Amino acid sequence: MLSFDEIQVSVSQWLSKKRFKHTLGVVESATHLAELYGVDVEKARLAALLHDCAKELSLKEMQKLVSAESYEADQELLSNGNLLHGLAGMIRAKQEFSISDNEVLEAIRVHTTGKVHMSKLDKVIFLADYIEPNRDFPGVDELRKVADQNLDKAVLLGFDNTIIHLIEQKQSIYPLTILGRNDVLQSCK
Ligand SMILES: [Fe+2]
Ligand SMILES: [Fe+2]
Repeated sequence: MLSFDEIQVSVSQWLSKKRFKHTLGVVESATHLAELYGVDVEKARLAALLHDCAKELSLKEMQKLVSAESYEADQELLSNGNLLHGLAGMIRAKQEFSISDNEVLEAIRVHTTGKVHMSKLDKVIFLADYIEPNRDFPGVDELRKVADQNLDKAVLLGFDNTIIHLIEQKQSIYPLTILGRNDVLQSCK
């Protein structure tokens, strides 16, 4: 298997400057959260490095990756690159770097949608994507604060922000995102 640094070189070539900077920010935040919550730091760093590796492919290219590996994906996922780059990134990570760690692959896959019964690694990547140092949106400082105190509460807040944003933008909400949000809400009680 290639080293982290070798994979980083490829990822830097696949992404714009801005998105590569975001990716390195996610690696930084994921490292911090993994240490804080007892998650395998190497897995968190690798998943963070690769989480957006398919984000700048065209929708067609993402769909091709998914159909070549015959992964099941519903129409809503297949027609929206904002959602599909998670699954497509997982497949790209497998194909290009022979990543076989299912926990790492799953964290890449679900970072766009969330799901029910997210692992701690899934949550770390999901959250790091929101709070990495380059992020600047109303409420990000509050989210960073909560992320240092309670992983589930921070993930819930992340879901809530996403869902509110989608409603404000008059966009559809992927059903699994609602189920994931309800699931983590239970863990917060
Ligand atoms: Fe992403
Ligand atoms: Fe991202």
